[in-house]
Amino acid sequence: MKGRIAIAEPDLSGLEEEYALAAIRSRWISSTGEFLDRFEREFAAACGGGEAIGVSNGTTALHLALEALNVGPGDEVIVPSMTYIATANAVRYCGAEPVFVDVEPSTWCLDPARVEEAITPRTKGIIAVHLLGHPADMDPLLDLAAVHGLWVVEDAAEATFATYKGRTTGSLGRIGTFSFYGNKVLTCGEGGAVTFQERSLATRLRMLRGQGMDPKRRYYFPIVGFNYRLTNVAAAILCAQLERREAIVGRRREIVALYESRLRGAAGITLRADAPWAVTSPWMFSALVDPAPGIDRDGVARRLAAEGVETRPLFVPIHTLPPYRVDHARRGGELPVTARLGSDGLMLPTHTLLSDADVHDVCDRLIAAVATGRPGRLRAA
Ligand SMILES: Cc1ncc(COP(=O)(O)O)c(C=O)c1O
Repeated sequence: MKGRIAIAEPDLSGLEEEYALAAIRSRWISSTGEFLDRFEREFAAACGGGEAIGVSNGTTALHLALEALNVGPGDEVIVPSMTYIATANAVRYCGAEPVFVDVEPSTWCLDPARVEEAITPRTKGIIAVHLLGHPADMDPLLDLAAVHGLWVVEDAAEATFATYKGRTTGSLGRIGTFSFYGNKVLTCGEGGAVTFQERSLATRLRMLRGQGMDPKRRYYFPIVGFNYRLTNVAAAILCAQLERREAIVGRRREIVALYESRLRGAAGITLRADAPWAVTSPWMFSALVDPAPGIDRDGVARRLAAEGVETRPLFVPIHTLPPYRVDHARRGGELPVTARLGSDGLMLPTHTLLSDADVHDVCDRLIAAVATGRPGRLRAA
C-alpha cells in the first residue's frame, strides 16, 4: 500500500486554479460576477433545465428552500432519520418540527409507506433525501404529496447528477438542494445550490438569499432574509469542475463498479440494492458490516484505520440525537432499517485520486477484517 488512503479528496486538477485566480484578479471576489452567472446557468442546464441559484452551502440551500415555501412554527415536515443532520436542522431553523420516518431496506431512502402513515393535518411537506447518491423513489412520494396538498423538496446534497427514471435529481420536486463541500462529487470547498422549475420561486429565493433586499430598491428590505450567497471565487472553481464533470463522475463510477464487483456477495458484507430505475451518483460507496460474535462495524473501522484506510460510520439516526429524541419519543415509532444502517453502515474511500490497486487494497483489508473471528474462522482455529 502506498500510504494512507483518504476517505475523500477533492479533484482540482483542471482549470480550478486558473479560474479562481481570474476571479481574484478581476476583483469580483464577493457574490456578484461572471463566474457566478455562468455557474448558475450551467448547473441549471446540467440538472434538467429550470433555474439554479448558488448559495453558501448545502445547509443554507435547505433552509432557503423551506423559507421560500413558508415553513414556520406549528408545521411538520417529514424527513428520513437516516440522513446528515442538516436535513433536520433546516426544519428546526424555521421553527417547525421534523417528523422522522424509516427508509427502505433496498434503496436506504425514504419509505413511501412509512411517509403516508406519518402525515397529519400539520404536515406541510416532505424532504426526500437522495442518500449516498441513490435517488429516493420520487413517484409515490409525489403522488402522496399531490393527494395531501404537500410539497416535496429534494435534498440532493449527496446525489449530484443522479437520475430517477431518466430525470435528473433536483428537477423532480418543488425545489432541489445541493452541497459542494470538499467531499462531494462537485466541489468548491464550501458551496451549495437550489434548483427549481417554477419561475415564480426565483424572486423570492433570490431575495431570501440576499438579506431580503428588494431587487428594484437598494437597501429596502420588505422581508427578513439571510446572507446565504455564494462567492464568485467559489463559483469560478465550480465552473472548472463543471467542465470536467464527465471525467470526474466517470472515474468515480469506475471506482464504485470496482467496489461492487469485489464486495457484492462477500461473506459478512451487505450492499444496497440499487433500484432498476436509478442511475446513482457516485458519492461515498458504503457497505453494511453484518454483525457476528466479535465483529462489528466500529471494530472493523478501527482495524482499517490502523492499517491506513480511512472510513466513516454511516450517520447516527437523527431521531436518537439529543436535540430530537424527546420529540420523537413522544410520537413513538421504531425505525428498524435506519437503526441497522446506523449501527452497521460504513462509508469507504471514494474519489478520483484512488487507483484501482487502492480500491482492491481497501476491499482486501475489509474482507479480511470482516472475516476475522466469524464463526467459520473460529471453528477452523
Ligand atoms: C444529505 C445532506 N444534506 C445536507 C448536507 C449539508 O451540506 P453542507 O455540508 O454543504 O452544508 C449534507 C452534507 O454535507 C448532506 O449529506
